Amino acid sequence: MAHAEVVELLHWWSSEGETRAVQSLVPQMARQGLELKMPPVPGGAQALDRVLRDRIASRSAPDAVQMKATDLAAWGAQGALASLDTVAKQEGWDYKIPRQIAAQVQYKGSYVAVPVNVHRVNSLYINRSLLQQVQGRAPQTWGQFFHLAERLQKAGITPLAHGNQPWQNLTLFETVALGAGGADFYLKALVQQDPSVIAGPVMQQVMQTFIALKPLTGHTGAADRQEWNVASERVIKGKAAMQIMGDWAKGEFIAAQRVPDKDFLCVPTPGGLSSYIYVVDSLAMFRKGGSPQATAGQSALARTVMGMEFQAKFNQAKGSIPITPGVDMSGFDSCSQESSAFFLAARLAKTLVPSIAHRMALPGPQHKALEALVDRLWNDPSFTPAQAQLSWTAEAKIAGAAEKR
Ligand code: BGC
Repeated sequence: MAHAEVVELLHWWSSEGETRAVQSLVPQMARQGLELKMPPVPGGAQALDRVLRDRIASRSAPDAVQMKATDLAAWGAQGALASLDTVAKQEGWDYKIPRQIAAQVQYKGSYVAVPVNVHRVNSLYINRSLLQQVQGRAPQTWGQFFHLAERLQKAGITPLAHGNQPWQNLTLFETVALGAGGADFYLKALVQQDPSVIAGPVMQQVMQTFIALKPLTGHTGAADRQEWNVASERVIKGKAAMQIMGDWAKGEFIAAQRVPDKDFLCVPTPGGLSSYIYVVDSLAMFRKGGSPQATAGQSALARTVMGMEFQAKFNQAKGSIPITPGVDMSGFDSCSQESSAFFLAARLAKTLVPSIAHRMALPGPQHKALEALVDRLWNDPSFTPAQAQLSWTAEAKIAGAAEKR
């Protein structure tokens, strides 16, 4: 028997739900005579970035890499990415992928990555039996959230599971910013980094709300950091009542055989009902010195990822919704069906906003600086919202001035 061609995919999907999702690629590629080599790099985008840099430096680029919009722009600028335009044209991607999303997987108008899914960041998970224990309801405003948290605490239940890693803190921060300020504020403050909005009263309120969440998590200090899926497990097992996390967390509930609406609730975060913070996972294709074999493998991977079978199987396990229209949503659970409806509504209302924490909007250095600032705000009690606002405003002014030059 002939040997299968190998296609290498570098990614960080290593939790239970993530593994189940990405494994769905294996049989589909095997049917095309392709073997996937894809041991995960645990540790998220930063860990993967280190591995990728070493690989590029030693001239052994992988075929495909899990990557987000702003990193695609950086690698695109270095000329490291291969074009998928031929496949995109043959498969009509321009008609299948919403324009706002298509721009996130292109570099200078060329497709350099295949989009995998849409995740909603502003998602709240609630353990239903703990909620019933205090006769509570899913909160729709931050006021209701804090009220519910108080009742949970009185009943001896930790209200919020949170892992306190810098990216998780920024994830929480952006959902508070959306809920307290709305989509317009979110765009001006977080995406455009408008110094007058960063310095203003709404941002002060956002920061105060953000740090008021900390006592609800039972944190013992800055050294108390956990993976996001460890926090999910605490909610699954009833050790904490809620988690605010992108809907990849739902993949953990499903992998643990928990049923939406029965065992847990999945709802938009407070104040985030009519808006939607999105993340698009995508697989960037790297240049392999023009090898026709590599190009064939990359094209097959891209076609498979955009295909109906993968879109259904992967996204049902992952917690996300399909990137292509026409995928039968009847096999998806109520969380995904609702998320899909919210996504469409937000697109129409123009309240669909890109995630900052998940590298969909801010260039690398600005993203890093904001992540560090928000992490400090959460972990260093001597760093007040007023100081954070001052220092962020100064950084935004410098970045703005550099852009104009
Ligand atoms: C990615 C998800 C992933 C999550 C946690 C996010 O940035 O978009 O696909 O599941 O990180 O690993």
